[in-house]
Formats: sequence, structure tokens, C-alpha cells
Amino acid sequence: MKQQLENIEKVAKQELDSCTSIKELDDLRIKYLGKKGELKAILNQMGKLVPEERKEMGQFANRVKSDIENALAEKLETLKAQELEQRIQSEEIDITLPGKKIEVGKLHPLTTVMNEIKDIFLGMGFSIADGPEVEYDYYNFEALNLPPDHPARDTQDTFYITDNILLRTQTSSVQVHVMENQKPPIRIISPGRVYRSDAVDATHSPLFHQIEGLVVDKGITMGDLKGTLETLMKRLYGDDCKIRLRPHHFPFTEPSAEVDVMCFNCHGEGCRVCKNEGYIELLGAGMVHPKVLENCGIDSNVYSGFAFGLGLERVVMRRYNINDMRMLYENDMRFLKQF
Ligand code: PHE
Repeated sequence: MKQQLENIEKVAKQELDSCTSIKELDDLRIKYLGKKGELKAILNQMGKLVPEERKEMGQFANRVKSDIENALAEKLETLKAQELEQRIQSEEIDITLPGKKIEVGKLHPLTTVMNEIKDIFLGMGFSIADGPEVEYDYYNFEALNLPPDHPARDTQDTFYITDNILLRTQTSSVQVHVMENQKPPIRIISPGRVYRSDAVDATHSPLFHQIEGLVVDKGITMGDLKGTLETLMKRLYGDDCKIRLRPHHFPFTEPSAEVDVMCFNCHGEGCRVCKNEGYIELLGAGMVHPKVLENCGIDSNVYSGFAFGLGLERVVMRRYNINDMRMLYENDMRFLKQF
């Protein structure tokens, strides 16, 4: 029996030595130490021995058992270390592989140009005023000298929340808020969204952006208006840019003008882009109507002012030669990536 035990120990150690994986090691553990293992089989025969021998054999068998256990544990540690080492080797980062490209977003052309325009006006000493997009009829129309049955309302049909509350059709509504809350000198711009009940096409959208300008002080003239707009356009389109004021009518300015800017494409010569005009219409403007000043509690005998409303989409389309307004809203990456 001793012979058998020694044999088991010898073979077990040999097998352990050549074992190369944790799975194999586990199989060996079962083979030698398991319930149906080789050691157990021998121990089961102990009953046949005389007590003397049984004691000696018992001790010997236990030593063999713990030897094998120790050897197993030792081997397990070695194998674990080897496997870790292999994993470290195989999972090592290959820094020569190209990295994953991170898409960096950028500003929408409407935002870029809006920011530029804000900067230009801040540089001229204007501040930026904000106003509600959901507006009372009074601020959008009535206080601006457009009483309920005024025909000019037809050109600015909008979306009504109630009879009295609507989505503003123009940023001119902010003029009234500002003049109600602030006494001259006033020098503000007010950029924001405006709405009109227009069908979508290349030059119309039910939502677009305007930048309102308002200056009220003693002795403000049409010359100040022209100078301010000329400065804006030169900064936007280059120093050789010229503007042209054409007589027009707005109920809230008197006199009123439409302001054209020299065609960026032909520099005034006349071409397809400007329909041979040499100029392109960009905004409406004028001297604030005395009635509007009075509606807001400003004495029109003491103060005068000018106002203008610039369409942001038009400026952006001119700037980048975009011929369809819808492209500005469709979020097509092939389009947006170009800016
Ligand atoms: N609010 C006018 C429009 O939307 C533009 C404008 C603003 C005209 C200020 C004159 C003065 O057409």
C-alpha cells in the first residue's frame, strides 16, 4: 500500500509539472483528491489493515495528500501568473493604430452671422434687448401704429394663440417694450425669431430671424441711420460695400425706407443674382413715428429716433451665396459641413 501511495505521489507530481492550464489542473485535482479519486480508493482499503499498520499508513496517506494539495496550490499560482502575463501581452494597446475620429461640431451659419452682427453693434455702443416671441396684439401691431383694421396687417398674417395673443411677426414689438421701460438715450438691437403664416419655399419660412435696431435720443436724424447701416454693411461685406435707401412705407416709421445693399456678386454692375438691379434688398428702416414714441410715453417734441429691421436669413444667404432658404433649416450635414 505504501508503494501504491508513493507511486501516486510520484505520478501526480509528474503530471502536475507538465500541466499547462487551470482547467487541466482542476481535472488533476479531481483525479487525485476527488471523492472518486485515486487517493480515496486506497484509503478505502485501510479497513483491511491491522490497527498498527493502519495508523502508520494513515499518517503516510495524509502526508501524501497534503503534499499533493500543496503542489496543486503552488501550480495554480504559477498558472494564474502565466495567464495574467499572457493577457497583458495580448491586450497591450497598439499606439500605431489610427485613433477613433471625434466629430467636432460647429456653429450654424445663422448663429455665426448673428454673433458677428451682435459684435458689430456692441462695438458701436449698442446693448442687446430681448423680448417675448408669444406677444400681445398690442405690442406687435397696435402700439406700432397698426390698429385692428389696418391693411398692412394683411402682409403679416401670423399664428394666433387667442384673439389677443399671437406669435410675433416682427422684432419691432421689442421697440415698444424697450421704450416703455427705458428712457432715452436708447441704443439697442434685439435679435430673435419671428413667425408668419407663410408657405415654405425658397425665400419664405413660417419661422425666420430678424434683428431689430432702435436708437432714440435728442437730435437723431436719418443721417445717423444711414451711417449706422453703412458701417454694419461694410463690416459684413467689405469696405467697398455700398448701400442705397429707397422710399417705402411702414406704419411705425416716418419717413420710411427699404435698404438695399450692393450686390456681392457683380458689385453694382447688374447680374443674375440681383436680377440686374446691382442692389439687393436687405432691410426695412426709418425714423420712429412720433405716434409710436408717444404711445410709449416719450415726448416726440424732444426726442427723435431711428429703427430698422434686418432679416438674418437674407444676410446669411447673401454672405454664403445660398439660393434656397430651406437649406438653413433642414439640418442636412452635407450642407452644414461647408461652413
Ligand atoms: N418690422 C419691419 C418688417 O418686419 C421692418 C422694420 C423695422 C421697418 C423697423 C422699419 C423699422 O418688415
